[in-house]
Amino acid sequence: MTSIKTADKFIAALGVEAYRVGGSVRDELLGKHPKDADYMVRGVSLATLSNLLPRDRIAVSKLTLRDGQHVGYRVGKPFDIEIVLPRKEISTGPGHGDFKIISDPDITLAEDAQRRDFTFNALYKPVGILYDLGGLVAVAGLHDPVIVDPTGRGLHDLERKLIHTTHPDSFRDDPLRILRALRFVAQGFDLSTDTHLELAEHRNAATGLTGGGNASGTVLTEMSRILMGEYAVKALRLMRDSGVMAILFPELAPMLGFDQSSRYHDLTTDEHTFKALETAVKVDAPLRVRWALLFHDCGKPQVAWKGKDGRKHYYAQPGFDGPWNVDHEVASERYWRYAAERMNADKALREDVATLIRHHMVTWKKRGVVQRVHRMRIQFGDALTKDLLLHRMCDLTGKGSGVDHKHLEQLGEMEYMRVEAQRTRVPATVKDLAIDGEDLKLLGIYGRDIGLVLRAVLDEVACDPSEMKRGRIWQVNRAEALR
Ligand code: CTP
Repeated sequence: MTSIKTADKFIAALGVEAYRVGGSVRDELLGKHPKDADYMVRGVSLATLSNLLPRDRIAVSKLTLRDGQHVGYRVGKPFDIEIVLPRKEISTGPGHGDFKIISDPDITLAEDAQRRDFTFNALYKPVGILYDLGGLVAVAGLHDPVIVDPTGRGLHDLERKLIHTTHPDSFRDDPLRILRALRFVAQGFDLSTDTHLELAEHRNAATGLTGGGNASGTVLTEMSRILMGEYAVKALRLMRDSGVMAILFPELAPMLGFDQSSRYHDLTTDEHTFKALETAVKVDAPLRVRWALLFHDCGKPQVAWKGKDGRKHYYAQPGFDGPWNVDHEVASERYWRYAAERMNADKALREDVATLIRHHMVTWKKRGVVQRVHRMRIQFGDALTKDLLLHRMCDLTGKGSGVDHKHLEQLGEMEYMRVEAQRTRVPATVKDLAIDGEDLKLLGIYGRDIGLVLRAVLDEVACDPSEMKRGRIWQVNRAEALR
């Protein structure tokens, strides 16, 4: 969008009582760059507002609620902003779903603020003329802009980074707010005591987020923001302790508090997971690595079996059959796929995370490390190889004690080899070879055999990428020999 300043000027020029409200005001006060802007105008009907919008210069479309109720306009190019009338909810019966949303030009700011989630998201920045606020006082904000704070604590809460709902039923009214609150925790906010209690009281509302469809897309967005936050693990622990995690992700429920009774692990699976994620935050790991870490061991309770040594094991039990007699990484991948499907995760994220989980056991090996790196690059591509090594590094550091330093060191060496392989352009796909299918046809190799031979040559070149082997002559000869 164009700058917020230009958008503010555009709204001010409409000559009506107008406010910028929500995330853009919050972010601006926090010194962050707002990503979009929402406006609220009072005192004019939707028809008048529509007439005021200069449609010859801007792209206007109707803004409706899920039930089809018309509440405002979206101005696309060149702004990408939303303009709505004030709204309030009125009760129509005893049930929590018994309410009606009223959109009306005369609704006050105080009433409009009550329909918003948190006090610091209910701050209104007057745009243009400052109107009679019906008893509300516009106060100077954190830095200097004039801000209207109808709940009387939004600015205070923002300054202290404290999460307060605007009313005790905020989470019940819209369960996505539970995740929004946890997202703010992940970004350095704290829950106020009241809000903590409200979260505990309304945690079951999170079941409303587990269906398919659009709502699930937003779960993915909010969860991704939680995972990417500086305080991601604090938010995840809160999510677990409040019971929300088990509701939202039944796939993770069995691992919460699960005692691994293994000689490799002294932490419960969830605490190990969180510790690994702590490292991921420290090293600024990408989103797909963090999603994979969250799920990488969740299949352990399902596949666990006790050996003669009295300890639990997490690989398929030899001599037994059954759909869940699989290695834990296979079970974890399965669980991730269930959750990804429910959240409508896009294909790239779904598949990349699945690969990271499925192949996360990059074990320590005495020999053949160089070949291993090259084969990983061939199998997964360079970017995923990098993330597999990173994932494993986070995984290994997620122990209470007994971190395997030798293993970590080897992962470091593997990453060094990967970087070198990338820098020196060691072939990682058949397209990187000096020969192609046409060359093979000249040698009398056809059909499926073309792929097989090319891959065999690639493997040999990648594992020993000398000048000679990278050359066309050697590759043609080798292909002929493999024919
Ligand atoms: N809002 C709400 N409950 C929700 C979503 C939004 O009360 N589940 C309100 C909040 O006041 C929010 C405003 O609607 O500030 C605008 O919503 P949106 O643009 O989704 O959020 P922002 O807070 O503006 O931005 P972000 O989600 O990026 O923080």
